[in-house]
Amino acid sequence: MHDLSNRERLTASGVVMDFAGLRALDDVSLSLGQHEIVGLIGPNGSGKTTLVNVLSGALAPTAGTVTIDGEKVTGLAPRKISHAGLVRTFQTVRLFGTLSVYENVQLGALGAGIRRSQAAAKAHELLELFGIDHLRDVLGDSLSYGQKRIVEILRAIATDCNYLLLDEPAAGLNEEESDRLLGQLSNIPDQFGCGILIIDHDMNLIMRLCQRLHVLNQGKTIAEGTPEQVRANPTVVEAYLGSQAAPEAGAS
Ligand SMILES: Nc1ncnc2c1ncn2[C@@H]1O[C@H](COP(=O)(O)OP(=O)(O)OP(=O)(O)O)[C@@H](O)[C@H]1O
Ligand SMILES: [Mg+2]
Repeated sequence: MHDLSNRERLTASGVVMDFAGLRALDDVSLSLGQHEIVGLIGPNGSGKTTLVNVLSGALAPTAGTVTIDGEKVTGLAPRKISHAGLVRTFQTVRLFGTLSVYENVQLGALGAGIRRSQAAAKAHELLELFGIDHLRDVLGDSLSYGQKRIVEILRAIATDCNYLLLDEPAAGLNEEESDRLLGQLSNIPDQFGCGILIIDHDMNLIMRLCQRLHVLNQGKTIAEGTPEQVRANPTVVEAYLGSQAAPEAGAS
């Protein structure tokens, strides 16, 4: 199956995910282009990570279809899905603690089959571009939490992916680090042709970073639209935003 209209998109359609008696995702459809940033938000347990697990091949959905660039990839192993251009990060940091920042980023490229000389150049370019060249020889274990988050994202980008799924990259970051992350992420789609699906509970970050939002509640899509539309949606306010600090108030 090759659907031309989805040639440069990641799509999920009608995804259902059942865990013994619990419907964690119920008919969820979503799409991500290579030049946009889409936010996936919703209360704890609403199914956000489960959807990322389905998209990235960690879970085979009970029903529904996932496509990458028009090709059906539903239920393929994570390794195959990353070859198709999709990379994800996890809710907890997963870096090689005994390798340097440079080696961690280079490994991302090598793991994706990029030649050694090119992988080295790519790692160098990314560290410079994201302003962490001075950390190149620091071991993963010695980094601050915020630095680890960035290195993890650079390792993903180093694979030359077209779709990057970030599961709570700002969790545990202070306001300044989260602001810096916002600046660094916002250029990725245009600079690398890599679309971003980002999950985060930091509404200040999400509302400023994303062009579109997708809101889940109890496994169901309850709203989709621009940050302005979603913020003004009474169903979303009741299910989720009402319990969050209002970004305008400057609370975090
Ligand atoms: N492997 C699993 N087996 C059984 N139940 C699961 C599994 N993974 C997730 N769940 C359940 O599915 C529901 C959705 O969980 P999920 O982790 O996707 O939520 P989330 O939106 O990412 O929440 P959070 O904001 O807390 O990270 C929850 O009720 C969770 O307990
Ligand atoms: Mg989660």
